[in-house]
Amino acid sequence: MIVIKDLTFKYENGDKNVLKNISLTIPIGGFLGIIGPSGAGKTTLLNTINGIVPHHYKGDYYGLVSVEGKDTFGIGLTDMSLSVGTVFQDIDSQIINAVVEDELLYGLENFGVPPEEIESRIQDTLDEMGISDLRYRNINTLSGGQKQKVAIASIIAMRPKILLLDEPTGELDPVSSRQIFAMLQRLNEQYGMTIVIVEQKIMLLSEFVKDLAVINNGQLLFCGPVRSVLEHSEELEKIGVNCPRVVTLWNSMKSAGISSGEICLNVDEAEQMVRKVLK
Ligand SMILES: Nc1ncnc2c1ncn2[C@@H]1O[C@H](COP(=O)(O)OP(=O)(O)OP(=O)(O)O)[C@@H](O)[C@H]1O
Ligand SMILES: [Mg+2]
Repeated sequence: MIVIKDLTFKYENGDKNVLKNISLTIPIGGFLGIIGPSGAGKTTLLNTINGIVPHHYKGDYYGLVSVEGKDTFGIGLTDMSLSVGTVFQDIDSQIINAVVEDELLYGLENFGVPPEEIESRIQDTLDEMGISDLRYRNINTLSGGQKQKVAIASIIAMRPKILLLDEPTGELDPVSSRQIFAMLQRLNEQYGMTIVIVEQKIMLLSEFVKDLAVINNGQLLFCGPVRSVLEHSEELEKIGVNCPRVVTLWNSMKSAGISSGEICLNVDEAEQMVRKVLK
């Protein structure tokens, strides 16, 4: 479980609090999406869970972040990385090896995965990501999307209990983005991996994650099950978060008193709702 309580943070070279009194609990096996406009504090919040804030990025830190019962303030980054894997927003800062296979191997060896398990971990992960053909390629020669898949693969191969991803599909086309989300859902359902993902693609997020958190200007505006958060689409649009059209349609129909029941998340649900209204 991840517990964030009354968390306030200011970077040491910053002039304002970039996280303001945030409280949030993510259960074991949770699958949380974090959304919010640029500069809202999403990356900073994610980095308080892996301990990078305040151990690497220092500053004024108030409140508590506890991961599996351990206060991240009190334990070092190496200990944290045993249970928390992070796919960073800046992939180039994450990749350290020249060849794809070595990038996966590096993490597995450092995490003490038994040698007899390493080969199957590498092959399974590459298969799962659909990049087996890239195994012996030089990473410098890969496209942005391919690199992104390698970065994700190298973290997933370690099967962390908690997986953090910061805009992992930014370089990916719609088909690959959907594949990544489907894979994350499998990891969440099959292994009970706790997943926290910052993502701009709200339509995809709302289809796959269980809960959504909305951050604006360092504050937690909403947090809860996807449908209940998206009922606030008007407020979300105001802070610059574009909601799926079916969501805004449902909300405006509800305001006009012509829809009821659960909010629609996709075109099929919207179609059913419109048919019901027309009856
Ligand atoms: N290392 C740093 N030192 C000082 N200020 C920082 C640092 N990193 C981020 N900030 C500031 O903290 C605030 C939150 O930044 P953060 O990167 O967490 O936002 P974000 O929501 O992830 O934005 P984006 O969507 O653009 O990735 C911003 O005002 C940013 O300028
Ligand atoms: Mg960010």
